[in-house]
Amino acid sequence: MKTQAEIHNKEVQRVFDAIAAGYDNPATRFFPFTADRLVSYVKPRPGTRVLDVATGTGAVAVPFAQAVGPGGGRVTAIDLSSGMLGRAEANIRKMALDNVDLHEMDAEHLDFRADYFHYLVCSYGLFFLPDMSAALREWVRVLKPGGKLAFTCFEVTAFRPMLDDFVDRVQAFGVQLPEGPFGSRRITSLDHCRELLGEAGLVDIDAECIQVGYHLNDENEWWEVVSNTAMRALFDQVPDERKAEFRQQHLAFVAKQKNDNGLWMDVQTRFASGVKPVGAVS
Ligand SMILES: C[S@@+](CC[C@H](N)C(=O)[O-])C[C@H]1O[C@@H](n2cnc3c(N)ncnc32)[C@H](O)[C@@H]1O
Repeated sequence: MKTQAEIHNKEVQRVFDAIAAGYDNPATRFFPFTADRLVSYVKPRPGTRVLDVATGTGAVAVPFAQAVGPGGGRVTAIDLSSGMLGRAEANIRKMALDNVDLHEMDAEHLDFRADYFHYLVCSYGLFFLPDMSAALREWVRVLKPGGKLAFTCFEVTAFRPMLDDFVDRVQAFGVQLPEGPFGSRRITSLDHCRELLGEAGLVDIDAECIQVGYHLNDENEWWEVVSNTAMRALFDQVPDERKAEFRQQHLAFVAKQKNDNGLWMDVQTRFASGVKPVGAVS
């Protein structure tokens, strides 16, 4: 018998393996934009060790490897999806980086010794984990005392109003959503970010919002966002014979949101961090 967590992880692997090929898409350039902002936010010192949790195609691992590289710094990057890791490997090779190690690993059960990394970063990954608090405690375990942990997640306004229409409409087309907040909406506010970090035993906690949104050309580019992110998993559940109708209706709504500059895509992102107290026992 598979546990709930095993079933959940299999589904995550299936979804991200399916979107891996299209993930590095101009329409979803907010992933590398956020990764660059995360480097400025964390300010990693050259020569240090970084763990990038839920690395995906390596958007965060790449700029962090560049930042810590001088002086022999290394980035270890993990993900559950072998499809995403395959893309990450290609991206790292393209950038000629030799200080990144990739591993297929579950973010909730890290195969690393305690007090090892100077920094642990996770961009748009925490809200996928069944037990976010347990995961954060595990992340703190592998962090050195004095080391910094930082994560990003979407603010509730992100992708509005297109996402709201998308979610309402998939339900109208018969897709059953999990009860309560799901996906990125499981982390509800900046205060919630602070609370999660505090409960994990971190100090010097910070949480702030940064807008990494931009104008898409049109509704077809928005469809690229739907097709190459976790939203795709919901669309896949629309009955095959109604998929075209769904797309036509949803994109008609999205087209109405355009103005002279194109289609504004809000990607308000929360950046949150904390430090493992010096003297903490793992
Ligand atoms: C939205 S992507 C973000 C990827 C990358 N951090 C970025 O900013 O582009 C989320 C990633 O989390 C990974 N993920 C989800 N659950 C995971 C788990 N339990 N352990 C490791 N990775 C996980 C997925 O496979 C996916 O690659």
